[in-house]
Amino acid sequence: MFFGKETAEEYQLNPEKMPKHIAIIMDGNGRWATKRALPRKAGHKAGAEALEKIIYAAKDMGLEHLTVYAFSTENWKRSEEEVGAIMDLLRMYLKNYFKKFLNDNVRMDVIGDISRLDKDIQDAILEIEEISKTKTGLSVHIALNYGGRDELRRAVGKIAADIAEGRLNPTDVTEDVITNALDTAGTPDPELVIRTSGEERISNFLLWQIAYSEFYFSEVLWPDFDKTELQKAIYYYQNRERRFGGRLK
Ligand code: FPP
Repeated sequence: MFFGKETAEEYQLNPEKMPKHIAIIMDGNGRWATKRALPRKAGHKAGAEALEKIIYAAKDMGLEHLTVYAFSTENWKRSEEEVGAIMDLLRMYLKNYFKKFLNDNVRMDVIGDISRLDKDIQDAILEIEEISKTKTGLSVHIALNYGGRDELRRAVGKIAADIAEGRLNPTDVTEDVITNALDTAGTPDPELVIRTSGEERISNFLLWQIAYSEFYFSEVLWPDFDKTELQKAIYYYQNRERRFGGRLK
């Protein structure tokens, strides 16, 4: 989709209208591999490499937050072999590549319920989140064992405990109270959500946070998604009118 443009250079982005936060559903790794007669895990490896490039592209463009859906609460239903391959990849990235991102002043954290992940993966996540406190650049939020409904369920549990223990009145449960009980507390809502591979579903991603987001669906399979594709998505976003339920002035 080139919006009538011939080359990527024509996607002049307006620096005044850059989104602060982009969220991405990285879809299509399996199909990318199948098209090449490769095992699905090769698709996930290529997907992780694409993520690395997109992190640096987002950093160069001056974005503040990037949230990526790496493993959903539903992904456990995949074959043991595929889940194992994704976890091995994650382990390798957490212990090696993510440290490289931190050295480049990128901050990283995880949203989702990490208690179901292997202990060494949990420890690596906590270490990365600790080091990130000293960094000031792009914040990358990795959604792992994440589901929007599960996140809301856990948030309701926290709020219910605050009420039961007398720290909060039921009448004081504002939208801000809910926002602050979510895994994404402290992060602004994404202005733009991208899903690759031609699928047009939200798949339980950031259900509360996307109330006013723009959506961009790309036909490109995630391992092929690059800086030019990201630029196109932002160009699309900048050329839409955002109304937030109100009227345009
Ligand atoms: C969706 O493609 C992708 C996933 C479920 C996994 C995403 C994981 C990565 C991009 C690797 C992330 C790695 C790190 C280190 C964070 P799919 O398998 O559903 O593709 P398909 O729809 O074509 O089968």
